[in-house]
Amino acid sequence: MALREIRLDGDPLLRKKSKDIVEINDRIRTLLDDMVETMIASNGVGLAAPQVGVLRRAIVLDIGDTPIKAINPEIIEEDGKVLDMEGCLSVPGYSGTVERPERIKVKFIDENGDNKLLEATGLSARIFCHEIDHLNGVLYTDKALEVFENKDLEEEEVNEE
Ligand code: CO
Repeated sequence: MALREIRLDGDPLLRKKSKDIVEINDRIRTLLDDMVETMIASNGVGLAAPQVGVLRRAIVLDIGDTPIKAINPEIIEEDGKVLDMEGCLSVPGYSGTVERPERIKVKFIDENGDNKLLEATGLSARIFCHEIDHLNGVLYTDKALEVFENKDLEEEEVNEE
C-alpha cells in the first residue's frame, strides 16, 4: 500500500466526471487500498478516486468498524433533508453547511465483485452523497449554504471527506 497525493480545489481533474469501473483487477484493488491508507493518514472519513487523480468511480468511507470500499456507487433511494456541516480533504481548512438526504439506499460493488445494497442515515448518508458528488466533478462548496474557515470553528464540527 502507498499514500497517494490528494488533489486540491482548483485542480481541473476534480471537475471531471469519473468513468464506471468495468473490471475489478489488482490495479483497482491497489487503488482502493491506497485510498483507504491515504484517507486514514489524512484523518478523513471519506475519499473519492478523482481526489487522488484517478477518474474512476471508486470511493472509500470510514463509517464503521472496517472501511468501506465502494465501486460504481449509486444512490437508488433517498428521503428527508438535513442541514449539517461538512469538509473535504481537497478543500483543506474550510467547512460548510450542506443540505443532504437524511436516509439513503446505496448500491455498489465491493472489491470482491459482490453487489451490495446498504441503507445509510445521518453522517454515513452524508459521506456517501459527498463522495459520489466527487465522481461527478461536484465539490461540497458548490452546494454549501455557507462556508467557514476551520480556525473559526470548534474542533468537533470539522469532518474531512
Ligand atoms: Co471531499
